[in-house]
Amino acid sequence: MNSQTLLLAERAVPRYTSYPTAPHFSADVTAAEYTRWLGEQRADATLSLYIHVPFCQAMCAYCGCHTKVVRRPEPVQAYLDALLAEIDLLARSTTARRVTHLHWGGGTPTMLGLDAMQRVTERIARQFDLSGLLEHAVELDPRAIADVTARTLRSIGATRASLGVQDFNATVQRAIGRVQPYDVVASAVEHLRAQGISAINMDLMYGLPRQDRDDLLRSLELAYGLSPDRIALFGYAHVPWMKSHQKLIDTTALPGPVGRLVQADAARGLLLGLGYMGVGLDHFAKPDDPLAQAARNGTLRRNFQGYTTDVADALLGLGASSIGRVAQGFVQNRSDNKGYQAAMARGEFAIARGKAMSDDDRMRADIIERLMCDFAVEVDAELINEAWPQLAPLAEQGIVTLREQRVVMTAEGRPFVRLVAAAFDAYLSRAGRHSAAV
Ligand SMILES: C[S@@+](CC[C@H](N)C(=O)[O-])C[C@H]1O[C@@H](n2cnc3c(N)ncnc32)[C@H](O)[C@@H]1O
Ligand code: SF4
Repeated sequence: MNSQTLLLAERAVPRYTSYPTAPHFSADVTAAEYTRWLGEQRADATLSLYIHVPFCQAMCAYCGCHTKVVRRPEPVQAYLDALLAEIDLLARSTTARRVTHLHWGGGTPTMLGLDAMQRVTERIARQFDLSGLLEHAVELDPRAIADVTARTLRSIGATRASLGVQDFNATVQRAIGRVQPYDVVASAVEHLRAQGISAINMDLMYGLPRQDRDDLLRSLELAYGLSPDRIALFGYAHVPWMKSHQKLIDTTALPGPVGRLVQADAARGLLLGLGYMGVGLDHFAKPDDPLAQAARNGTLRRNFQGYTTDVADALLGLGASSIGRVAQGFVQNRSDNKGYQAAMARGEFAIARGKAMSDDDRMRADIIERLMCDFAVEVDAELINEAWPQLAPLAEQGIVTLREQRVVMTAEGRPFVRLVAAAFDAYLSRAGRHSAAV
């Protein structure tokens, strides 16, 4: 790796979980606009519902999610009421009923309380049609999974659980403010499997403070011992200007760009050697897992939750800060719980911002999504010419090649795919700050 490649690795670019990316959403899209968009939805459109629960028991120092610590039941009860009101409001605003995907994210969804999760699911089942549900996934904190949790998840029909693992090393766990011994994770997996929730994902991270390559490989081997169907390996995004609690992270203990690349590379080698298939930039799946199948047959998608098999026509976000996508564009709910709840109490959507998609946005969104999912995409000649000033230095570094009109990432260049995607991003010059490219 030469010094120029290193400079590229440090360049700040979006993670492209959407295009246009969230910093380009604006207050031009209002609750009234969203209501109109939903009203135009076809009755046979398929829906994916994302429910955001912005509560945790304690704050992890590295956390980049939208969440906060709660210790009293009142804020949680008020939030539950708002979620139930939002389900009813959505059902009044669209004629579409067929839900194919349900995803609980956070934060820690179980912080809502098990009875509350049941009530939310029942309300969705009453208002929408869950008979064609393909997946019901829940993000879980292994520290909060007892037998009763697993039973409740089973009773609401959860089919897939994503466990936050990060790293098993005690020194790293202390440095990130998340102490969670191996046995805690192993027992969570046991409880879930005992209830028949057999699709297990694990999130691990590289680029953490005090973490070196060997810590990461050991953590992955321990995770492998628990046989997860999918492993998501995220590069730690250090964005203290957005997440002030990340100031607790000792930046002198963070691996630099070379260290991060070495970690990501070694982790990939290990997981591929263990029989996982690489999916997109940061996911690994057993070859028979639906995500691996989607990656093989070119139907992999990317949305706000990362790589997914979800091909629903629309994604409807519920809860504070959640992002939705309908045919006309993107919307995002207000992030403050109070404002979100007040809007729900008035019977109005809590849209803070959004982005109507132009034809140009749609075309670029397709290119960027295919690049992020397939590492290759067909692009028309005019657009290649336009992107060439950004692509040329990447081609010189051996990161990307051009085969006629096909833009193809090289095997070594794949970790830099966000840089290639950025070459097709028409908004980037006006962008805010992002995390490092690798
Ligand atoms: C909502 S959490 C998972 C569920 C649960 N709250 C937990 O932590 O166990 C989603 C995942 O995002 C990842 N994550 C959180 N902060 C991150 C950051 N700053 N950079 C990269 N990944 C991050 C972690 O791997 C985490 O497990
Ligand atoms: S990583 Fe998970 S448990 Fe930790 S603060 Fe973030 S959302 Fe909460």
